[in-house]
Amino acid sequence: MGSSLCDLRWLLALLGGLLSLLPLAQGEDHYYTFVLRETNFTRLCATKSMLTVNESFPGPVLYVRKGDTAYVNVINEGYYGVTIHWHGIKQPRNPWFDGPEYVTQCPIPPGTNFTYQVLFTSEEGTLWWHAHSDWTRATVHGAIVIKPALGTTYPFPEPDDEKVLVFASWYEEDVMELMREALSEGGLTTLSSAYCINGQPGDFYNCSRDSTHRISVDYGKTYLLRLVNSVQNTDMYFAIANHTLTVVGWDGAYVKPLVTSCLMITPGQAMDVLVTADQPLGEYYILLSPFFDGQADDFDHSIASAIFQYNGNYSYTGLPAYPSDFPGWEDVEPATSFVKRLKSLNSVEHPIDVPRDDEITTRMFISVSISMMRCPNASCEGPDGNRLASALNNISFANPDLDVLQAYYSNVAGYYAADFPDRPPTLFNFTSDDLLTDNVTLSDQGTRVKVLNYNETVEIIFQGTNVMNSGETHPMHLHGFRFYVVGLGRGNFDNETDPETYNLYDPPEANTVPVPKDGWAVIRFRADNPGVWYMHCHFDRHMTWGMDTVFIVQNGTTAETSIRKPPSYMPPCETDSSLLSALHSYLRQQA
Ligand code: C2O
Ligand code: CU
Repeated sequence: MGSSLCDLRWLLALLGGLLSLLPLAQGEDHYYTFVLRETNFTRLCATKSMLTVNESFPGPVLYVRKGDTAYVNVINEGYYGVTIHWHGIKQPRNPWFDGPEYVTQCPIPPGTNFTYQVLFTSEEGTLWWHAHSDWTRATVHGAIVIKPALGTTYPFPEPDDEKVLVFASWYEEDVMELMREALSEGGLTTLSSAYCINGQPGDFYNCSRDSTHRISVDYGKTYLLRLVNSVQNTDMYFAIANHTLTVVGWDGAYVKPLVTSCLMITPGQAMDVLVTADQPLGEYYILLSPFFDGQADDFDHSIASAIFQYNGNYSYTGLPAYPSDFPGWEDVEPATSFVKRLKSLNSVEHPIDVPRDDEITTRMFISVSISMMRCPNASCEGPDGNRLASALNNISFANPDLDVLQAYYSNVAGYYAADFPDRPPTLFNFTSDDLLTDNVTLSDQGTRVKVLNYNETVEIIFQGTNVMNSGETHPMHLHGFRFYVVGLGRGNFDNETDPETYNLYDPPEANTVPVPKDGWAVIRFRADNPGVWYMHCHFDRHMTWGMDTVFIVQNGTTAETSIRKPPSYMPPCETDSSLLSALHSYLRQQA
């Protein structure tokens, strides 16, 4: 009797001990406060006020482990409504906190706050967060570092140290004003004046030399560079003079080590890169320069730089070393071959689960185009007085006044149509040079979404088009998932021969895929995340022009396969946006 009671106590103590360990095993909770406020910044010899988080550009880095949860209280002290998105975080069954305005929520009004719950479940490596309303991403963004879960390690030797490098665009003007101007006139948008590495343009710009970003390194050490590209509208080449880069992660998943002297990174992408400081003590340029394969020559041609600087006693005179065979903006080959070389680990610790051909239940063929829409009295600044637009399957997405998630969840009719088509309205030679007539250049506007059953297996073939001779690489980004990139190629997609080139053995996982100019990309994923998920080109101007759509993934049959309960408070949708913007300009004048 006595001894069995003793056993029971011992058992209870053991159980209690185990229970106290449980929260740790399930991951930690982190609490962050993001204060959005207009702050003065000086770059390129001029000072301007811009919206940032906690007065920093780029914004604060979130540090978590796989399995953790973050609660981020966003306090909006700015002049207009804003939302924040957790780029590349799947947020299982949790679309309420995904962030894209009018897709999963309405903007957080000035003078109020909203706390996001961010669930880190399957991601590992580097991802990021950014504003997902209008063009505020330009100044409101930052990195997310997701370390391996406790008790697990990197699939590569532990680096000696790590550095976060965030890339962005710098505009001399206020980006919200630029957007309003561009949208009211319907023409091309103003180009950025600089690119930045951790907020600094670097040595090749006016008034910037003194503040060029520097990474100090010790000879012999290996560094994990965590790269995030938040540039607004341009793909970028990245290199460090005389140093070899080993890419080990892409979009929050590991890849087989890829050794290269130069990499291409599109807006939306994040990469983990190892670099060993194995060169003679000295200073070496880190370069970030545009890659552009379109015809219009309509991009910022400038080059940002930082300095990779060795610690130690050496006398160094002259300029840092410059990369010897750095690609020019028009060099396509280094970009395409780099993307094609990315492969997933497909190992025991990091298995993959690529849908097989016979498992696909939904096949979509989506044309990705620049287009036009008619403008009253042909008074817009696009060709023939039309308004410049962009489209997926010839539909330019229009934001509804009530977010799609709320309309779907509460069954409110009239805000979207569940009829986004599985193919373009007409098939034509998508990559030809003479796509200039109305039947291919004009797109229709609408809020048309694609509805998927729970757990459907989806294949999407993105076909880049050369409509209006404006073909270029488009970084297509999907919320709520990491998909497999099973194929990439040039020209019109060929149903017979191109599937034979698919990589179904070790395709990389990603949330953003560069669809090549006049080419195609094929992705596959399982729709096992019920919710409302945005898909769009990650060039902000293409996104606002309509190169977007929304996937609604319906609930499964159990609670565990259904959308979580909404938080008790979501930002309101009724605020009249024109009234808000009038208020914004008024407040700016007063400031
Ligand atoms: Cu990084 Cu919908 O965005
Ligand atoms: Cu695009």
